[in-house]
Amino acid sequence: MSSSENKPERTLADLGVTRPDQVVSLFGEVRARFESQVSRPLDQPNWEILRQAWLGRKSGVLTQIGDNWLKPATLELKRAVGASLNELRAHVESQIEARRLAIESGAEESALARERVDLSLPGVIRPIGSHHLIRQVFQEIEDIFVSIGFSVVEGPEIETPYYNFEALNIPEFHPVRDDMDTFYLELLKGAPTPLLLRTHTSPMQIRTMEKQKPPVRVIVPGKVYRRDNPDATHSFIFHQVEGLAVDTDITFCDFTGTIDYFVKQFFGPSVKTRFRPSYFPFTEPSVEFDVSCIFCGGSGAAAGGGTCSKCKGAGWIELFGAGMVDPAVYGFVNYDAKKVSGFAFGMGIDRLAMLRYGIDDIQVFFQNDVRFLSQFP
Ligand code: PHE
Repeated sequence: MSSSENKPERTLADLGVTRPDQVVSLFGEVRARFESQVSRPLDQPNWEILRQAWLGRKSGVLTQIGDNWLKPATLELKRAVGASLNELRAHVESQIEARRLAIESGAEESALARERVDLSLPGVIRPIGSHHLIRQVFQEIEDIFVSIGFSVVEGPEIETPYYNFEALNIPEFHPVRDDMDTFYLELLKGAPTPLLLRTHTSPMQIRTMEKQKPPVRVIVPGKVYRRDNPDATHSFIFHQVEGLAVDTDITFCDFTGTIDYFVKQFFGPSVKTRFRPSYFPFTEPSVEFDVSCIFCGGSGAAAGGGTCSKCKGAGWIELFGAGMVDPAVYGFVNYDAKKVSGFAFGMGIDRLAMLRYGIDDIQVFFQNDVRFLSQFP
């Protein structure tokens, strides 16, 4: 207790107290100080010090209040000081007595023991976490594409049908909406447009081209959502990286060369790629990229004889969809389809990670089991 904060050492006049309400708040302060001292764990010697400090006849706080506040108080303040002092005295006496009883009964000792700091105890070790495997794969893919001139952009997971479908050349009654249809948000009546959880990262093709003139080279990592039932290869939430390159002179060769470069960087220099015709409303021509089976080296045969179970003997594994940007899409973003060309791709990251690390159940990415996660520090 420093003397500077012990207001009972000074008189009321000295403290500038002239009104009864000031008296009340002054007693409030004193009581708060007592409260904080009396609530600490105490042993017998410290209890005695506390008792002297507050109830000591010569210079305890209550005596000081009587001498310095009550006796010289003006007539106006005397009543207030007297009443507050009586109240405080009763409180202090009963609390200090209660603590004496607690010390005698031994309850105090265990409280003290609980508070004692044992400096010989080892510290708390907080295990350091690591990035989720999906995040690590995102990072790796981003690094590969950034090294060849792409930038990384991200977009909203809640989309309008315009960006998710229409501007990608998928009008309202187009049959592909059936496989892609998704979770619509429940909106208030009169909302200007329906909203849905994006089914792919392709809406960012449109958002990017709306914002910037060619040349465009971006990749878009992110989460996507579809109405799929969970099983070993399906999840209603998964991850994609979209890619888009548009410029005045991008050819099909640039397209396949870029993909081949990426696949070799990601899976290793010995893998081969091939593409097969496919269909997406927003690319023309559309293709599906395959990679030579990374488990059997493309032979289709298992190491111990029989067929490779991963590619089922085919020697190839389907990787992702892609294609040259359909000229109709340029119409939605005011690009001149006669002057520009480009390619786009959309790869499933969960699938890439499963292939690369030999994981056979997509659900492990979402279960957050530390025994799984800690295998990828
Ligand atoms: N958005 C498509 C899908 O999710 C993939 C894709 C992206 C295909 C870009 C072509 C071009 O299935």
